[in-house]
Amino acid sequence: MRFTVAIDGPAAAGKGTVSRAIAERFGFAHLDTGLLYRAVGAKVLAGADPVAAARDLRPEDLEAGDLRTQAVAEAASKVAAIPQVRAALVDFQRSFARREGGAVLDGRDIGTVICPEAEVKLFITASAKERARRRWLELREKGADVTLEQVLAEVEARDARDRERATAPLEIAPDAVVIDTSEMDIEQAVAAAAAHVEQRL
Ligand code: C5P
Repeated sequence: MRFTVAIDGPAAAGKGTVSRAIAERFGFAHLDTGLLYRAVGAKVLAGADPVAAARDLRPEDLEAGDLRTQAVAEAASKVAAIPQVRAALVDFQRSFARREGGAVLDGRDIGTVICPEAEVKLFITASAKERARRRWLELREKGADVTLEQVLAEVEARDARDRERATAPLEIAPDAVVIDTSEMDIEQAVAAAAAHVEQRL
């Protein structure tokens, strides 16, 4: 069975959590496509050329330990604006999406560019304020010394870069279902997403 669930949306809207839960619930494979850009970003921080790093990317690079830092997130959002970097990552994502047994891919351009034929397209969002609050709580739990205002500024800067870039900007596919998680907890967001998958199975 081939079945693709495309999940897009801005940072910290709950995309990752919902994607993992949907993959587990339906037995689908999951690809967090942000990791591809983060892995390229990490190589650039280590001195590599972005396009060469994207072309040479290997699956094991996605398991590097330090891909979740703010510095790597920044670098990722910059390399993600380079058309040749994006082009180099397309085939890997498309083959993952059409693998036997079903796949969930989450990112920014899955329903619009990578998998326009996906069986289910979800756009998971939340207000910038709420996303910043969630990210801030997460960072504080890890012991980071940041203010809510700093996190909000970072979230807004990254949103603006993702929405305004010329190639594959963050936008809602015309046939995507929008789930706003501002007022939802995780269980509610997962239930809303799962209902759409069930409808199409
Ligand atoms: O989702 P995550 O925060 O890990 O993504 C890191 C960066 O990678 C994003 O800010 C975005 O610029 C970029 N990205 C992208 N297209 C995707 C996934 C991520 O441009 N499909």
